[in-house]
Amino acid sequence: MEAKQAMAIPLQITDSSSAFQLSVALIDADDQHRREVAKALAGFQGTTVREYSTFPANLDDLPEMMEKHYDAVIIGLDSDPECAFDLVESLCDNNSTTVMVYTEQTQLEQAVRFMRAGAREYLTLPLVRADMAGALARISIRRSSISHGKRVSRKLFVFLGVKGGCGVTTISSNFAVALAQVSGQRTLLIDLGLPLGDAALNLGMITQYSTTNALQDYNRLDASFFRSLLAKHSSGLSVLAAPGEFFPAQAPTEALDKLLAVARQCFDYVVVDAGSRIDLKETALFDENANIYLITQVGISELRNANRMVTQFFSARGHKLQIVLNRFTPHALLFDEAQIDKALTKPAVWKIPDDFATARRTGNSANPVVFQDSPIARTIRQMARNACGLPTNLEKKQGFSLFRPFAKPLLVVPEPEEG
Ligand SMILES: Nc1ncnc2c1ncn2[C@@H]1O[C@H](COP(=O)(O)OP(=O)(O)O)[C@@H](O)[C@H]1O
Ligand SMILES: [Mg+2]
Repeated sequence: MEAKQAMAIPLQITDSSSAFQLSVALIDADDQHRREVAKALAGFQGTTVREYSTFPANLDDLPEMMEKHYDAVIIGLDSDPECAFDLVESLCDNNSTTVMVYTEQTQLEQAVRFMRAGAREYLTLPLVRADMAGALARISIRRSSISHGKRVSRKLFVFLGVKGGCGVTTISSNFAVALAQVSGQRTLLIDLGLPLGDAALNLGMITQYSTTNALQDYNRLDASFFRSLLAKHSSGLSVLAAPGEFFPAQAPTEALDKLLAVARQCFDYVVVDAGSRIDLKETALFDENANIYLITQVGISELRNANRMVTQFFSARGHKLQIVLNRFTPHALLFDEAQIDKALTKPAVWKIPDDFATARRTGNSANPVVFQDSPIARTIRQMARNACGLPTNLEKKQGFSLFRPFAKPLLVVPEPEEG
């Protein structure tokens, strides 16, 4: 492979909060495209780029070499898509290098093919600066977790309502989509809502299998069986849906524990819609590593339930318990903020406004609320950024578009098999 003159450019950017210290290899035989991408990368301070103008002839030692020298490899597809495909496959096979690709083509099939081969980002030309910024932010998260010895710290996020109808499904499903998008990590949503969970429905997805398949057969539940039960949302989020039929048998604790163990083994981030199932408090769902979001509203019974749950079950959780006040309307009501804080025993970390028009769109549309620009969506995206360690205010500084616009028709495909 022919290396152009090494471009160890300390790249320029105006907003220092978005500086990434990243080294990137840019491989593209199409000079014009390569120059365009190099120029776009040149707008990001701290990123160093080395350009390669031909595809490598020998793929054997390449993955190791790339992993050693670069945080990410960016590959142009259009000069020779098949050659590019072989390269992506070879780099992604057992390798921790992050691979991004770009193309002028907007065919969905090609995008799916490259994402399945392991590409983390699929950008289209002409490049949108915000898309590149988002992609670099995700590489940066991934790189720091790799350098800490694991790919990312696997995290469990459990959304629990103080009673039915508080907004657990609305918030958790949109949070999961946002987390998959902003982090670029493998993210799974499990719907444990009973009797008929509607998280998948809320995301406009039709699913074939459900938690029932996993829990009924938990003795033979392994990574490959588990993956075969999942559906994929176009944001990249994987979903294990709730059953579409009433299912009377209660699953034993060990079934749920096994399900969570396998899920956490396969995914970096596991998000659970737990409905208002405090009955699951003895399961691994609420172990001391779980990050719990307790969803409540400002009403007499909601605040009373919240108070009981916080004091009886979660008093020792510290920052691992975050209270979310949903449908919050400042200065309107029964209770002032001091009374609310007192009832909750600690201040709510997140306040999601009451916005019927936006929330209603969730169920009606295949375009998740969190992709849109509304106060609900902005708060949920902040929650997701906070959950994966990104600054929550970045979006405000760079504008809404830093969040990848993915308002495309949803694609529900089975999970790829992984070795
Ligand atoms: N912030 C909000 N503003 C307005 N309506 C909301 C909000 N959050 C949720 N809703 C609505 O409240 C109802 C119950 O929400 P849902 O997420 O299904 O609750 P749960 O899963 O806790 O039962 C839904 O109709 C939803 O659209
Ligand atoms: Mg629900």
